Amino acid sequence: MEYMNTDQKSLRLTTDLSQSLALANKLASEVSSPQLIELVGDLGGGKTTFTKAFGKALGVEKTITSPTFNIHRSYEYGRANRLEHFDLYRLTDDEIVQNELSEKLADPNTIVVVEWAGNFSQILKNDRLVIEFRFVDENNREIVISATGAKSQAILERLR
Ligand SMILES: Nc1ncnc2c1ncn2[C@@H]1O[C@H](COP(=O)(O)OP(=O)(O)O)[C@@H](O)[C@H]1O
Ligand SMILES: [Mg+2]
Repeated sequence: MEYMNTDQKSLRLTTDLSQSLALANKLASEVSSPQLIELVGDLGGGKTTFTKAFGKALGVEKTITSPTFNIHRSYEYGRANRLEHFDLYRLTDDEIVQNELSEKLADPNTIVVVEWAGNFSQILKNDRLVIEFRFVDENNREIVISATGAKSQAILERLR
């Protein structure tokens, strides 16, 4: 993995597919619930691919599939933990979605991963990791990870 630029609160790297998957594995070994991870970037950037590898590394046994048209999907891992995978693509401010998201964010045993949080960003918790996927070429992405809040910043430090 090539580290292009780092500062206190963000980490920027260029990854091929295997390195994106390795990063997801590494992140899974560093996070603990509750944690919010927001995934940003264009269609095909690698958000769902990342989530699948991340969930598998957490210990999710079911196959993780894109929640598009389902708002979110829930997966169990470990003893009593859950991964909640939201995909809010094209959803506008909607009370049902808001409530669903708020409920999952309040659960201490849950890691919440949100793709396309855009319209709902005002209800996302302050302490969060934001992972942005930028298209470089067919096989490579620039990934920028930033952290807000003490817990997320500590995780980011451990990814360096
Ligand atoms: N460096 C890379 N990192 C992540 N995905 C990559 C990379 N190179 C190619 N890909 C491919 O890009 C696609 C990303 O799709 P997906 O994860 O569904 O994107 P999104 O959820 O952001 O729309 C997958 O087919 C994946 O195999
Ligand atoms: Mg996706």
